[in-house]
Amino acid sequence: MLPILRWAGGKSFVTNNIDQLLKSTGHNGVDEFFAGAGAISFHLEKEGSILNDINPHLINLYKQIQSGAIKSISDCINIENTKENFLKNRERFNFLIKNNDYLNEEAAALFYYINRTCFNGLCRFNKKGLYNVGWGQLKKPIIKNSFDGERELFEKFIFTNLSYNSASMKNKHVKIIDPPYFDVFVGYTSKGFTLQDQVATSELNLNESPALAFNSSHPKMLELYAENGWSVFTIKAPRRISCNGDRKKAIEMLAVKMFSDKEILHAFKNKEVVKIY
Ligand SMILES: C[S@@+](CC[C@H](N)C(=O)[O-])C[C@H]1O[C@@H](n2cnc3c(N)ncnc32)[C@H](O)[C@@H]1O
Repeated sequence: MLPILRWAGGKSFVTNNIDQLLKSTGHNGVDEFFAGAGAISFHLEKEGSILNDINPHLINLYKQIQSGAIKSISDCINIENTKENFLKNRERFNFLIKNNDYLNEEAAALFYYINRTCFNGLCRFNKKGLYNVGWGQLKKPIIKNSFDGERELFEKFIFTNLSYNSASMKNKHVKIIDPPYFDVFVGYTSKGFTLQDQVATSELNLNESPALAFNSSHPKMLELYAENGWSVFTIKAPRRISCNGDRKKAIEMLAVKMFSDKEILHAFKNKEVVKIY
């Protein structure tokens, strides 16, 4: 299944590579510390996958779908794609945030609508935690009205809303580590993601599970992961969207634990994979 959200840094471009890697190495699932739009888990559809993300609105949307609370988006909110309606929905969404009343069906529907109709699918919050991206002026945004297929899939998943360093991932699935990239501002949360967070992420306790970590190919990240015992590669990625809409061609980092070079070079060969450390 495909993600339901537009998400900066989404990993749709490597889902087939990861599928192939898991099949050829006999691993039966993934857990994601930084799930975002969940491209990898949605593609693999494995029972018992843990999808964690610090964004409460994202996890609220998934949980509202999982529990069946959202039957129809248009029953909850007005889904018209006009600037006026976008701003009205954004205002209502921020009102719910300000009043600490955002873990419900209405807030989930608003978050979904805003994601589908905003500028570049960006999920950006100001220091007060209020959503501040403008209307995307899309001619025909895809706005699903019901999520029956997703509900069935989400019954297989466990969603958690924690910071990466508190997320509990005790099973032996392959761990997917896809944090906000170093040196690329996207602003998924008002707290940001510091160099200290990057260091802590590279040192996460993986309970002896195999793991795949993604990041920008900044030399600092390549060195950091190498210093912490990862095998480090670069792969070719599609043009990436940054916060101001600039699209740059990207070479990204792929760091791995408990996979051989041969397995990675084979599974990612169409991504021009190169071993660095
Ligand atoms: C690069 S995106 C992940 C994209 C995802 N793999 C996909 O395919 O859509 C990074 C994610 O990290 C999340 N995030 C940021 N800080 C976090 C933290 N401290 N703990 C957990 N998740 C965090 C963001 O909300 C964002 O969804």
